[in-house]
Amino acid sequence: MSQTLLGTPDAHATLVAAAPPTPLLSIHDLVVQYRTERGLVDAVRGVSFDVAPGKVTAVVGESGSGKSTVAQSVIGLLAANGRIAGGSITLNERREGPTELVGLSERRWRGLRGRCIGLIPQDPGNSLNPVATIGASVAESLRIHGQKDRRAIRGRVLELLDQVGIDDPVRRAKQYPHEFSGGMRQRVLIATAIANDPELLIADEPTSALDVTVQRTVLDLLDRLRQETGTGLLFITHDLAVAAERADSVVVMRGGAVQEAGPSERVLTRPESEYTRQLMADAPAFGNPGKRERIVVVDVAEGVGSDPEPLISVAAPASPVLEVRELRQEFRGRAELPRSSRSMMCRLRFHVERHTR
Ligand SMILES: Nc1ncnc2c1ncn2[C@@H]1O[C@H](COP(=O)(O)OP(=O)(O)OP(=O)(O)O)[C@@H](O)[C@H]1O
Ligand SMILES: [Mg+2]
Repeated sequence: MSQTLLGTPDAHATLVAAAPPTPLLSIHDLVVQYRTERGLVDAVRGVSFDVAPGKVTAVVGESGSGKSTVAQSVIGLLAANGRIAGGSITLNERREGPTELVGLSERRWRGLRGRCIGLIPQDPGNSLNPVATIGASVAESLRIHGQKDRRAIRGRVLELLDQVGIDDPVRRAKQYPHEFSGGMRQRVLIATAIANDPELLIADEPTSALDVTVQRTVLDLLDRLRQETGTGLLFITHDLAVAAERADSVVVMRGGAVQEAGPSERVLTRPESEYTRQLMADAPAFGNPGKRERIVVVDVAEGVGSDPEPLISVAAPASPVLEVRELRQEFRGRAELPRSSRSMMCRLRFHVERHTR
């Protein structure tokens, strides 16, 4: 644009400074349908929002509102009976510039998925190959994207496990998923998702299966990675309090549509839609701080092997509501696994206290 049109050079500078940065991801009017025995299900009905580079965009909403369907569309992994019926998803890709993801060929997806977009899936239980070691699972994501040097792969796997806070990576890399706790499996999935330094990370309820302490650790880890690498994060959660604490912007979904979207500070302090207000009223962290009972789990020890290490250790309350002592469970592995990982002992100990506030 010429200076004459804009007036003085100063006016030009102001305009340039005020221009919003190009979004890393732009979703525009996305429509997704599932084919079912009872006909077509409109799971996503005209959703639009952006994810900025290095920022967190949280998508919140009740179960079935279409959050995972949006996430799966962005990484090209919709269920076989799902299809994008309209709209566009543009990724501002580091190497190739703006890339339209809707209608991309499977060949191009194979180059993009994992390298440019990483996914931390909703269910850590089923997402790791039970008969591959943890090290082999993380290495696989490096190999898919062309890494061939075995020594370099091994070094990077150990570095990634260390980066996500797994102690003793050399020993842990040789173990199998059933020898890891839920929180540790979730960290392995994060290691796999970030292995190729993707520009966009999608975390679909990354912590909903975890207890509050491990949840915080995993969310802190994601925050740190984002700050260190500048990765944009599309963070899906049904927990408004978590979104408020972690996200730069919030998209509230209901029935496959966006109810409202904007900077998290604005959406959560001055919600425009009645639905967001209702969600906030229902969320304990935002709701009426009237008299409530709180159940607190303390003194947790869990672990595998004959002598598990305590996870958190707090003095036992005088009159717990529930007390679990040295609960032991033995898991038997598959016959094809090495002898050392065929069976495993898990010990659990915790108390539950009742607080009134
Ligand atoms: N494979 C599928 N076939 C048919 N319908 C589906 C399929 N997957 C999802 N749906 C439907 O699409 C809608 C959106 O589901 P989706 O899993 O995206 O919701 P969600 O917001 O992620 O929910 P949750 O918080 O429970 O994970 C729901 O009505 C769901 O029943
Ligand atoms: Mg979901």
